[in-house]
Amino acid sequence: MTSHQRAAARTTTLAREHPFGSDFNVAARSHAARSELPSAVPLMALSTGFWAFKTLAAAHELDLFSRLAGGPGTTAGEFAQALGLHQRPAEMLLTGCAALGLLEKTDGRYHNTPLSEAYLVRGKPYYFGGFVQMADKRLYAGWDKLAEALRTNRPTTWDPAVQSSAFDGEDPTMLATFWEAMHSLSTMTARKLGEAVDLGHFRRLLDIGGGSGAYDIELCKQYAELRATVFDLPHVAAIAAGKIADAGLADRIETAGGNFFEQLPGDHDVHLLSMILHDWDEAKDRALLSRSFEALPSGGAVVISELLVNDEKTGPAWAALMSLNMLIETEGRNYTPAEYSAWLEEAGFRDIETVWFDAPAANGAVIGRKS
Ligand SMILES: C[S@@+](CC[C@H](N)C(=O)[O-])C[C@H]1O[C@@H](n2cnc3c(N)ncnc32)[C@H](O)[C@@H]1O
Repeated sequence: MTSHQRAAARTTTLAREHPFGSDFNVAARSHAARSELPSAVPLMALSTGFWAFKTLAAAHELDLFSRLAGGPGTTAGEFAQALGLHQRPAEMLLTGCAALGLLEKTDGRYHNTPLSEAYLVRGKPYYFGGFVQMADKRLYAGWDKLAEALRTNRPTTWDPAVQSSAFDGEDPTMLATFWEAMHSLSTMTARKLGEAVDLGHFRRLLDIGGGSGAYDIELCKQYAELRATVFDLPHVAAIAAGKIADAGLADRIETAGGNFFEQLPGDHDVHLLSMILHDWDEAKDRALLSRSFEALPSGGAVVISELLVNDEKTGPAWAALMSLNMLIETEGRNYTPAEYSAWLEEAGFRDIETVWFDAPAANGAVIGRKS
């Protein structure tokens, strides 16, 4: 066997073992085999990626994982009976979920895996189902028109002729779904950010466009001396207030309604911009960073938490695909550490650094300090 044949065999094995694995970069995997005919299996995995997603979304919609939580597991027959389903689809769904790592089968019964038990059971602290639901009910339809968004450079999940941005939607169901999704995404991301970036010497956090308050709740749990303000549009600040009260942190986290394009509250020594700058174009982002610089005291810092595209603009896949998600949802895109660093410097920040971590909604933070 030549080295190319060995590489091709390895690529084929990988693709067969992990057709729905989290590494989307199948081109890099088949690169080794390019002087011979590469395997077409990675294309099957890409073309049917929605099969995996829809299996997850349907199982979540049927409450499969919450029903199985902490219990004795189920057979296909029991599951069919409990939900009034035919046996055939019930068995197919359980088999599909097992194949995707969402269920495991022991002694003839299907149980949650550690992944589904931790993140797909309603009421668990790091419940991720809100994002699954938003991906299914909102993003999926928007991505169906991705080619249209590419041709027009306009979002597809809302109509710019009717709304001024994705965030002034009036549909209360959509609003509830969107902020449940953001909370799902952000809670675990906040935990990872708090572990990777030392916030121990800061006392007052301003979470600019803080959404549901997930970062503030998680970071105040991690840092006992920290107090925080969630600053967001007035109707969103009200959603955050409910989450903060549920977490029992109303004495340390306050909410403030306002428009970050007009003014920022003072009296905070660290600013957080989580998944804010990727929503907007470069000019608005640079203006917002200048406003942040003006509002911070000397010794303060701004933390930009995002799925960062690498400086070469070749990946990583999650960041590159989140960037396309910003095409169907916003006027922004996912930017690179080099781009953020240049804008921070222009705004007056110094000692700029990028800290990397691994979380659903961010792979790193770019930090700028005010001397
Ligand atoms: C993608 S969400 C991010 C939420 C939160 N930072 C997180 O990571 O979970 C963007 C947030 O920006 C807020 N936002 C949008 N435009 C705003 C504005 N002009 N002033 C204040 N907040 C705004 C939205 O309401 C939304 O909560």
